[in-house]
Amino acid sequence: MKKLAMLVAVGAALWLAACAYFAATQPALSFSAEELARPPAPLPKGFLWGTATSAHQIEGGNHNDWTRFEQEPGHVARGEKSGRAVDHWNRMAQDVALMSALRANAYRFSVEWSRVEPADGTWDEPAWERYGDLLRALEEARITPMVTLLHFTLPRWIADRGGVAAPDFPARFARFAAEAARRLGPRVDLWCVLNEPNVQMYLGYVVGTWPPGRQSPAEAVKAFEGLLRSHALAARVLRAGDPGAQVGVAINLVDFEPASRWSLPDWLASRLSADAFDWAFYDSIRSGRIRFKTPGFPSIDDPLPALQDSADWFGVNYYTRHLIRFAPRAVGFVSVRPGPGAQNDLGWEIRPEGLLRLLRAASSRYRLPLYVTENGIADAAGNRRGAYVRSHVYALERALAEGIPVRGYFHWSLLDNFEWAEGFAPRFGLYRVDYSTLDRSPAGGAETFTALAPP
Ligand code: FCB
Repeated sequence: MKKLAMLVAVGAALWLAACAYFAATQPALSFSAEELARPPAPLPKGFLWGTATSAHQIEGGNHNDWTRFEQEPGHVARGEKSGRAVDHWNRMAQDVALMSALRANAYRFSVEWSRVEPADGTWDEPAWERYGDLLRALEEARITPMVTLLHFTLPRWIADRGGVAAPDFPARFARFAAEAARRLGPRVDLWCVLNEPNVQMYLGYVVGTWPPGRQSPAEAVKAFEGLLRSHALAARVLRAGDPGAQVGVAINLVDFEPASRWSLPDWLASRLSADAFDWAFYDSIRSGRIRFKTPGFPSIDDPLPALQDSADWFGVNYYTRHLIRFAPRAVGFVSVRPGPGAQNDLGWEIRPEGLLRLLRAASSRYRLPLYVTENGIADAAGNRRGAYVRSHVYALERALAEGIPVRGYFHWSLLDNFEWAEGFAPRFGLYRVDYSTLDRSPAGGAETFTALAPP
């Protein structure tokens, strides 16, 4: 009996000590109302200050794997289709003027692969020229471009062969990247090779709510491998074709916290989630090994030396925090719920402290310059965006004051747009779009964004 009591006591002490250790490595963080009310510290000169978009969400008139997926019932809310989106394809000059009105000095956008290479190996000259025109308009407006090469959507011809998990995907993607470097490189230095490979893998291959709609851990790992191989090859050809190229990948970073700070299984589950979702992609880049080891998935740990040094910077797409509970019967052994704070229109918790924590973590982990490649709020009423921008820029100010090399901030998004499986209802734009006339007008928060622009 005594022995049992001893064992229980020792076990409890170890449990508490382990929780205290985890808590010390991830201290609670909270910004006070007073701090947030202080006048903003000016951002450094030369800091990139802009907005982010993606081709499929704004251009309209696309034909890719997503437009096919949108036709199938049940995939997009209310059965909405991206259709003409916000017709950016025909309104590029006007939309660049909107950026200037925000005092933005940078813009992140993506090239729609299915437009410029509509069939395997065939380039569409007018489509490439249109992107060239956009770059010239940005140059005239003194707006630095960051070009994303893959923002989720795929040409159907490559989707039909197995998409990002197909064995020839990396070579096909690198051919597109080389062409982009050759044609656009003279006006572009900042290349975002991939947008959120972690989300593409998770929603496309684990949950299956995005194309290709799979629910297969084995295929998810194949997709992870394919995306890493594609990045490594593309980084090489971009640098060869554009000597000033600085390449990186935007990762969707979630601020994972244990549901209970006194539960050891919750701590472990939260760390496993962060390792698998937030860090696995760049950990592989850092180590030069395609490495994914997470319960519930086949393990992979293969050398790919070309990965090492394949990134000049790390891109942080930050939106929210997740509270993680260990759940033995759930996929990946975790259950996820939003934190207790105020939420955006999609139910995502608004948590600016998470941005500071993740900037610190990414910086100490990879020792690379950082860009906030996306950050924003679905706020149809437009009455929370101003405070949202201010509080997240406060997180940036703190990071900069600590010496963390944050080089730019891109607000998601310039315009309201087609929000994937959520359709058109969520409004992320600094400009509100009237979907019947497609007129753009400043949304709540646009003034705050403009006032915070660096000198
Ligand atoms: C990110 C995507 C972007 C947009 C925002 C709200 O995960 O990269 O396309 O949908 O979320």
